[in-house]
Amino acid sequence: MSVAFQQCIHPDCAATYDVGQILTACPKCGSLLDVNYDWNAIPVPKSLSGFERRWTTRLNPIDFSGVWRFRELLRFASDEQIVTIGEGQTILQKNDRLGTTLKMNNGCLFLQYEGLNPSGSFKDNGMTAASTHAKMVGAKMTACASTGNTSASLAIYAGVTGHFQCIVFVGSGKIAFGKLSQALDYGAKTIQIRGDFDDALARVRDICAKHPIYLCNSVNPFRLEGQKSIMFRVLEGLGWTVPDWIVVPGGNLGNSSAFGKAFMELKHLGLIDRVPRLAIINAAGAGTLEEFVNTSGLKWNEGRPNAAQIDARYSKMDQQNERASTLASAIEINRPVNLEKALRALEFCNGIVCKVSDQEIIDCRARIAATGFGCEPASGATIAGVQRLRDEGVIAASDRVVCILTGHQLKDPDLTMAYHSNDPQLIAKKLTPAGVTSTPFANPPVVVDNDEAAILAALGIST
Ligand code: F0G
Repeated sequence: MSVAFQQCIHPDCAATYDVGQILTACPKCGSLLDVNYDWNAIPVPKSLSGFERRWTTRLNPIDFSGVWRFRELLRFASDEQIVTIGEGQTILQKNDRLGTTLKMNNGCLFLQYEGLNPSGSFKDNGMTAASTHAKMVGAKMTACASTGNTSASLAIYAGVTGHFQCIVFVGSGKIAFGKLSQALDYGAKTIQIRGDFDDALARVRDICAKHPIYLCNSVNPFRLEGQKSIMFRVLEGLGWTVPDWIVVPGGNLGNSSAFGKAFMELKHLGLIDRVPRLAIINAAGAGTLEEFVNTSGLKWNEGRPNAAQIDARYSKMDQQNERASTLASAIEINRPVNLEKALRALEFCNGIVCKVSDQEIIDCRARIAATGFGCEPASGATIAGVQRLRDEGVIAASDRVVCILTGHQLKDPDLTMAYHSNDPQLIAKKLTPAGVTSTPFANPPVVVDNDEAAILAALGIST
């Protein structure tokens, strides 16, 4: 057995499987799987600063990668097996301008800008790991369902490496054009099914279970191993100190699950002495987790969350044909597949969940962008969440808060343009149906004749 193995997260099962197996659920009990490690057999540095030695050997691609330079913390592959395209060159940026508007002390608000990844979203952190595993097990064909970013990410890894073909399943609804165009450009076979993301994911899971196609959604435990590295880089950006809060948008809950696992392992290894609190932000129109946690009191419960309660809620969803609906199309998800792992992360990180409206999301997206950090709507949910938690006094002015900006601004320019335009038709079509009644942070273009006097008048410069 190698130093890594797959393991069922259910404490009454806890079955283990070889890393060479292709699994997206426990064959014995159907629960989610973790990738776990025999830590005694891995030469993990004694302190996190030990990873800094890789800064000087960056010409080696696996030392350059913002994921694999921490490879002792996800040691399921040998150096030779690793597939990397230079992911994870992302930055943690202190943002006092935005912090001030949230009545936070200077030096307390940070944005982790994952839009700088090769495909423009945090997904590349996970896809490098899933691609590595796909190559290890000899997969020739890979697939995912996606609200857009997962498909762009899988498509770029397939395109750049040429190791495997890829099929992406997208819903026929709201996928942002920036993302869809990436999958098409990178050569993915793109199947647009009639239905939404939840339908597409159920379909692709079924197809991958019946055919030799390797599934790259976040039920793939190897993907989440790569996403742990976002937290390693946050700690790195803070000089290896732990912030008070990590704030992340919640969709399929892969990121929040991965972050929780990262902190569980770092604590276990003695590499950190405390963990940050986790705030998962749902869009109000896709608030399954928020409802489960805040209304129904669902808890991790030592690995035994109330399954009957979860099943009953999903049956009701089916009966009433309830569909997720939000302008933040990336997180338009009603059945988060990593629910149990996210509950575990919430428990371990003393976490909370909150939901924010589309109005709050797109206003906050614009507020973030106005400080020079463009992001897509889902990422705007983070600052909307911080605003609420500041208003409620849950986050203090002196707390150090890190918001994860999950996707790049250029992923969804249509919505940005609708927000900034003065065009009533565009606003009526794109924003009003989602309940957005105003665009207070709009910066519309000023249309003037090509005439100096008219331009100076528009600029308010008197002659
Ligand atoms: N932010 C962005 C930009 C995303 O694309 C996603 C998920 C999330 C947040 C939510 O992350 O699922 O880990 O809770 N996008 C997926 C996709 C579902 O298909 O691209 P999560």
